Amino acid sequence: MNDLAGKHIVLGLSGGIACYKAAELCRALIKEGATVQVVMTEAAEQFITPVTMQALSNRPVYGSQWDAREPNNMPHINLSREADAILIAPCSADFMAKLLHGRADELLSLMCLARPIAQVPLLIAPAMNREMWAHPATQRNLAQLQADGATLLGVGSGFQACGETGDGRMLEPQELLEDVIAFFQPKVLTGQQVLVTAGPTYEAIDPVRGITNLSSGKMGFAIARAAREAGAQVTLVAGPVSLPTPRGVTRIDVKSAQNMLEAVMQHAPIATIFVATAAVADWRPASAADQKIKKDGSGQAPQLGFTENPDILASVAQSPRGQSRALFCVGFAAESHDLLAHAQAKRARKGVPLLVGNIGPATFGQDDNALLLVDEHGTQDMPRAPKLALARQLIAEISRRTRAVA
Ligand code: C5P
Repeated sequence: MNDLAGKHIVLGLSGGIACYKAAELCRALIKEGATVQVVMTEAAEQFITPVTMQALSNRPVYGSQWDAREPNNMPHINLSREADAILIAPCSADFMAKLLHGRADELLSLMCLARPIAQVPLLIAPAMNREMWAHPATQRNLAQLQADGATLLGVGSGFQACGETGDGRMLEPQELLEDVIAFFQPKVLTGQQVLVTAGPTYEAIDPVRGITNLSSGKMGFAIARAAREAGAQVTLVAGPVSLPTPRGVTRIDVKSAQNMLEAVMQHAPIATIFVATAAVADWRPASAADQKIKKDGSGQAPQLGFTENPDILASVAQSPRGQSRALFCVGFAAESHDLLAHAQAKRARKGVPLLVGNIGPATFGQDDNALLLVDEHGTQDMPRAPKLALARQLIAEISRRTRAVA
């Protein structure tokens, strides 16, 4: 996807060993469709050369407020006026202090001060030793910078170049990329608590075998990511899948349908939106054997009895919160044929205001999908697209409907 197509990012580097990550960040931003103008402080140039950053950004790097290449000799004005955002990565403790005081004695801080504050957001990705990060001066500066409108990206925690371990690492380039993409998404779910189920469930037969299905979890993970990008607090209850957790999302891993029900019931009382994308097993073995079921040589297959699993979505949708629409419930239907008729019937049976149909074999494991939305007013097609793009459209639709309910 080209999530940053049309965006112009001024990438500012201040001095710190995390400058080496800025090279990869620059590439990642460009791969996602952005144009990137790099501005470096003198200290940053001690860690990485402007040549590297010029080659990666395909633009000359700026480093001095006296740069005569600009016809009006005002790079601080020209560069900041073109930007959709200024991203300082890495942002050193010293540079945070400079920003806080509105100092402007070199190009990068001068440009930040000169930017039209209402149109050009400032994103900072701090990088420093843990003691520097924890110092009251830095924390005070951070709080004031946020009060002045800056957006904090990070910080990460872990092993630091100085050999110590703790908070203050710059986020990894891919994490920063995800945060920058999220920053530009419309904040249509601010204040909402979104609960999502995703993936298959696994119903044990014995300690080494079980019944599961081919759900990859990709659609549910995309919905969790899109909801978080839209400003919601998101809890993702995931069946056994190995997908990475979307940034900023709280993940609860579960195995069986019963585990999933417990996790959902625990979080449903504070949720305002519930999206059930999980492919929950309809049946589980009536009793899982304690030990591996062995062949006994008789040629007789073991007799398995089955018990119906609880319907998680229906339980939540038919609870008082679901009924009152204080919790807006969205169901999914994976069908092989007659999608519309099945989706309409499922919407009524589950008691949900919105049901999203998709064709099972066309979605399981795929990176793209096509959706059919069914509600009380009718139907809406979302043509084939990457799952994240569909998830964002679905979040916009959910937001429209929850606003209508409120
Ligand atoms: O009944 P069916 O499995 O086709 O319904 C699909 C929808 O119901 C999905 O939203 C799925 O997550 C949810 N579901 C559930 N608990 C079940 C079965 C399905 O939440 N036991």
